[in-house]
Order: sequence, then C-alpha cells, then structure tokens
Amino acid sequence: MSLEELKKKCEACQRCSLAQTRTNCVFGVGSEKATLMFVGEAPGEKEDLSGIPFVGRAGQLLDKFLEAVDISRDEVYIANILKCRPPKNRDPLPEEEEQCIDYLREQVAIINPKIIVCLGRISAMKLIKPDFKITQEHGTWFKKGNYLMTAVYHPAALLRDPRKKEDMLLDMQKIKEKLSEE
Ligand code: URA
Repeated sequence: MSLEELKKKCEACQRCSLAQTRTNCVFGVGSEKATLMFVGEAPGEKEDLSGIPFVGRAGQLLDKFLEAVDISRDEVYIANILKCRPPKNRDPLPEEEEQCIDYLREQVAIINPKIIVCLGRISAMKLIKPDFKITQEHGTWFKKGNYLMTAVYHPAALLRDPRKKEDMLLDMQKIKEKLSEE
C-alpha cells in the first residue's frame, strides 16, 4: 500500500470514538523517502483544524530546533501515535492507541527511516519501552529491529519549562550527527 492509500484509509477510520469528535484526521506530513521520522503524541486543536501535525505553538518550536541543526521540515516525516485529537487534549487512552498504532506501523514500514525520534514521554513509552523515563533517558539510542530510536522532550514541555531547551538542542545535534554517519 502507498502512503497516499494508507492516508485515505486513515481518513475514513471509525475504529474508535475520536472519529466522532475530530474535525480532520491528522495522518502525517513529509517526505516518503525521509531517513528521519518524528513521532509525537496526538493532534492538538490547531492540528485537528488543519489536518497537519505540529503546526501549533509546540510545532513552531519544533521547527526552530530543526532549523537550529539545519534540517528542513520537508526532508523529514512527522506523525503522531494517535491520528485524531483527544477531546480537550487529554492523554490518549490505551484502547485508542491500540486501535490506531497499526497506521503508524504501516507508515514506518513504507517510509523505512534510519532514525525514529519520539517526541515526548507518551510516544517513547509506546514505541521504545513502557517504563521509559524521559528526564533520564532522552537522547539515549535504542536499536529496535531495523531502526535506531531515541526520544527528546516534547516541544510542549519546553514551552512549560524553557530550561529543558539546552538538553533539546544537544539531543538534536546528536540526531543530526547520527543521521550523517553511514
Ligand atoms: N502535540 C503532539 O504531540 N502532536 C501534534 O501534532 C501537536 C502537538
């Protein structure tokens, strides 16, 4: 299946109750050939309205960190664990994650990136390990199947606590270095 076909399937999805409250399904954006993929938690209000991940305040901050390490948004792929916004941005429910995760698995299989970066704790707990500790383990590398994985602070956490921005920059620099190693 192509990414475009998968997107169509996702847009028609009725697997969980978020289908009733979403404005748009937020499938993912970026290059089908991306070697670097970012995975956040779930769409927020701006994302639900636009259908594009990470376009709100947190997304704008993510863009700044990409720019800081000279990576353009067009060359990466950005998606979320959940494709639909949970009401009032509550945490995803385990059953919503279970219903939705196959879309992400298929996205990863089609894109086949070298590196997957989890944005925040919820994504890291789902994709790297259930007991992932973001404060201690951000920037650490994990090998999972064909993929190199790491997690960084969620940009929304950086908005709440700007002292974390220093660590974020160091982690992004490590990711940039790893990307250029063959
Ligand atoms: N937060 C996320 O985790 N994902 C988005 O797309 C926007 C905000």
